[in-house]
Amino acid sequence: MQLVFATNNLNKLKEVQKLIPQHIKLLSLNDIGCFEEIPETQTTIEGNAIQKAEYIKTHYGYDCFADDSGLEVDYLNGAPGVFSARYAGEQRDANANMNLLLLKLEHITHRAAQFKTVIALQLNGEIDTFTGICKGEITEKKFGNQGFGYDPIFKPLGYNQTFAEMELELKNQISHRGKALMKLISFIQEFPK
Ligand code: IMP
Repeated sequence: MQLVFATNNLNKLKEVQKLIPQHIKLLSLNDIGCFEEIPETQTTIEGNAIQKAEYIKTHYGYDCFADDSGLEVDYLNGAPGVFSARYAGEQRDANANMNLLLLKLEHITHRAAQFKTVIALQLNGEIDTFTGICKGEITEKKFGNQGFGYDPIFKPLGYNQTFAEMELELKNQISHRGKALMKLISFIQEFPK
């Protein structure tokens, strides 16, 4: 069985291929000749994940899964959410995004936030979604230099380090993306060869 993972990130692809049953062969967007930008025009994280998976099915004919993630801050009613990548503008600059968020939370003590990933799977004419949440809080300044995006200012609940100070292995175990992925994997384990 073949399944497209709507990503061009080969590291992500390899990591997931290791975790899923051997009889499922994962294909990247490159593998299916998809070099265009897939539209992400929905107003929710879930909507974007579904849109990407459906786009691949409609335009390329493959069963597929796609993920979309974002950071939801309590005090900002869930912002930046689906706009996380371009919070401070279309240049998608992680530092500018963090600086803007720190500014919005200046002097605010309620700093609860969560990362959310939704994976949408388009398989045999059906769409299923798998959600992973990682709760935590926004620190008052940046700590650590590993990872990407908002990692230096997100401290997961129960830990004394930000994501950017953690070993990747630990981050993957507790992260929103890791949790959504585990749900997807246990779902596709059930599929017959
Ligand atoms: P994507 O849908 O995985 O590309 O995530 C959208 C945006 O959310 C990223 O560009 C980051 O700004 C933010 N984001 C998602 N996951 C993480 C994470 O694990 N750490 C830090 N930032 C993240």
